[in-house]
Amino acid sequence: MSIRSKRKEEHLVLAQTFFQSEKANSFDQLHLLRPALPETKVDLAAIKTTMFGKEINAPFFINAMTGGSPKSLTINKELGKIANQTKMGLALGSASILVKEHAQLDSFLVAREANPDGVIIANVNAKTAPKDAQKIVDELQADALQIHLNTVQEIAMPEGERDFHWLDNLKNLRQEITVPIIIKEVGFGLDQATIRLLKNEGFEWFDVAGSGGTNFAQIENARNQNDLSYLEDLGLPTVIAAMMAQKEEVNLIVSGGVRNPLDVFKGLCLGGQYVGISNVFLQAMEQNSPEFLLQMIQNWQHELAGLLAIYGQKDLTNLTSIKQYFDLPLQDLIMQLS
Ligand SMILES: Cc1cc2nc3c(=O)[nH]c(=O)nc-3n(C[C@H](O)[C@H](O)[C@H](O)COP(=O)(O)O)c2cc1C
Repeated sequence: MSIRSKRKEEHLVLAQTFFQSEKANSFDQLHLLRPALPETKVDLAAIKTTMFGKEINAPFFINAMTGGSPKSLTINKELGKIANQTKMGLALGSASILVKEHAQLDSFLVAREANPDGVIIANVNAKTAPKDAQKIVDELQADALQIHLNTVQEIAMPEGERDFHWLDNLKNLRQEITVPIIIKEVGFGLDQATIRLLKNEGFEWFDVAGSGGTNFAQIENARNQNDLSYLEDLGLPTVIAAMMAQKEEVNLIVSGGVRNPLDVFKGLCLGGQYVGISNVFLQAMEQNSPEFLLQMIQNWQHELAGLLAIYGQKDLTNLTSIKQYFDLPLQDLIMQLS
């Protein structure tokens, strides 16, 4: 197995080792004011929406994880089937490996084959040449392309990248890629200044991918001889990242540490057009079965519709107007960063 495939397999093992389903995070410190008499009813049609021009059943999706290794192939096939059955978006893990190891294409393509008409989002690193990224988009018939910014992860990674001059390539990618581009982090959060900088370069979609869930400093540190555990606290909590990002009036995706349908709902109330979930879904499948994950996602769709009814909403259009209030530690951080 190549070093890249082996790394993905190690990430999968460690993501399971460190997974804590109930880990506290910034979503716990955000609260929403609820009308006691909402005058609504639970309606699955209320959460239906579109993603990159295609209809989806709910505004949450499976965020980037796998591809480029044997285990990834099995996982992507199952995730593709589930995305198809639940009519939800699916982002695949980094396909930059295909530039050097094209034989790994099948481990990504299985998801598109299982979900021929649904939303599939490809993912590459920020150094991927535009022609290679476009080839990946074409091969996967991707509806959008995520580009991940992951400096903390790279530094924590023993074999990681050490040169972060990425902007010129990002500008070239923006000019040449034919589908919408989403700039994302991998669990340390996008800051407002970076979003503004890239917005000024013409980028439109941003997935904050904040801290509170999967911690790649922890995962990489377990693969590293040196102790770099101090990097684990560098993340910007998802709720704060989303609030800052919202000020830039960009197309926003909220992800990082989403554990349940209430976190999804809060992500939407923070201005997310979609909410992304990675490890919680992966572990539901890995520690149980694909059938378990399928049922879980169907439950989440019903429960999200239930939350809309509780909060007096008939559809997804007005969620940012719901009154938000915060526990003091979070409020303090928001004030310091505003
Ligand atoms: C096993 C695993 C592999 C991942 N691989 C990628 C990747 O290839 N590209 C990427 O942009 N993000 C990757 N991520 C990061 C996720 O997309 C997400 O940003 C992060 O896990 C935070 O979300 P979570 O708390 O819901 O897990 C990966 C996450 C996990 C758990």
